[in-house]
Amino acid sequence: MFRIDRNLTADELHKSLRADVAEGLTARPKRLPPKWFYDEHGSSLFEEITGLPEYYPTRTERAILEERSDEIARAADAVALIELGSGSGVKTRLLLDALGRHGTLKRFVPVDVSGDFLAASARRVADDHPGLDVHAVVGDFEHHLGLLPVNEHDGREMLAVLGSTIGNQAPAARGVFLRAVHAALDPGDTLLLGADLVKDPERLVAAYDDAQGVTAAFDRNVLTVINQRLGGDFDPGAFDHVAVWDPEREWIEMRLRARSHQRVRVADLDLEVDFAAGEEMRTEISAKFRRDGLTAELDAAGFTLTHWWTDPAGDFALSLSTVR
Ligand code: SAH
Ligand code: AVI
Repeated sequence: MFRIDRNLTADELHKSLRADVAEGLTARPKRLPPKWFYDEHGSSLFEEITGLPEYYPTRTERAILEERSDEIARAADAVALIELGSGSGVKTRLLLDALGRHGTLKRFVPVDVSGDFLAASARRVADDHPGLDVHAVVGDFEHHLGLLPVNEHDGREMLAVLGSTIGNQAPAARGVFLRAVHAALDPGDTLLLGADLVKDPERLVAAYDDAQGVTAAFDRNVLTVINQRLGGDFDPGAFDHVAVWDPEREWIEMRLRARSHQRVRVADLDLEVDFAAGEEMRTEISAKFRRDGLTAELDAAGFTLTHWWTDPAGDFALSLSTVR
C-alpha cells in the first residue's frame, strides 16, 4: 500500500523558502540553509556524491548497516520505521528487510523536503514490499514533526536519521530538533542516528570538494533553486565552491564565493542584493561528531544511548537510543 501526503506542506514549504532566502541574503555574513539544495536535480547530485571516491560516509554507513541490521531490528523491535531525510532510501532497504525478517514491521514513513524524489523512491519501496504500508510525507523535519503519522499502531516505533544529516544543523538547532523528535515518540521507542566522526581534516575537506566537481555543482544548485522558485537571477557560474574545516567547532563549512561583484535580484521577494568580489556566503555546515558529545546531546534531549556501532577505521557511527 502506498500513499503520499503533499498538500500538508506545499504552501508552508514555499513560505519557509521565501523567509529563509530573505533572511539569509540580508544577513551579514550572508547564508542559506542547506535544505534548499534538494530539488529533484539537487537530490540526484547528492546521489552522485554518495558514489564519489572521496565521499566515504555513505558506503561506510551502508557497510555498518549490512553487518548490523538484524541486531538493530532485534533491539528496536519496531512496528513502524519513520525516516527523516530519507532521500533515495537505498540504505533504508537494509533496515526494512531486517525488520521484515524480525517479523514486526507494518509501516514505513519516509519524510523528505524533496517531494518528487521522495515520491519516486517511496513508490519503489512500496512496489518491492507488497505487505508494507508505505506512507510518505513531503515535509520539513525542522518544522513538521508534530504533523507526522506516528504512534498510530500498537507497538514500538523506530525513527531513523541516516547519513549524518543531523550534522547539517548547528548545535542549538540540533538540540531543538532532538527534543522535537523526542516529543513525537513514546517511551521505549528508538532513534537510529548516523553520525560522521571527527577525522583527518584533509580527508574531510576532500570529501566536500571532490576532484570531479560534483559537490561544487550541488553547492551551486541552491542558486538555481532560488532562480526557479523565487524568480532570482543568480549566475551560478559566477560563484566558486569552497569547503573549509573549522577545527574549533569541528565542522566542515561549504560556501559560495563571488568571483566578481554581483548584483542579484530576487523578484518574488522584491529584493536586490550585492555580493562584493570575493564575498563568501555559507551554504552548509556538516558537523563531525565524537561519541561523548553525541551521547550528551542525546541525553539532554531525553534519549539513552544503548548501542554504538562503527566501521573498523572509526570513520562513521550508527547509534541506537531509547526514549526515556
Ligand atoms: N538519508 C539519505 C539522504 C541524505 S541527504 C542518506 O543517508 O543517503 C539529506 C536528505 O535530507 C535529502 O534527501 C534532503 O532532501 C533531506 N532534507 C534536508 N533537510 C531537510 C529538512 N529540513 N526536512 C526534510 N528533509 C530534509
Ligand atoms: C546530507 N548531508 C549529511 C551531506 C553531508 O555530508 O553533510 C550533504 C553533503 N554536502 C556535501 N556533500 C554532501
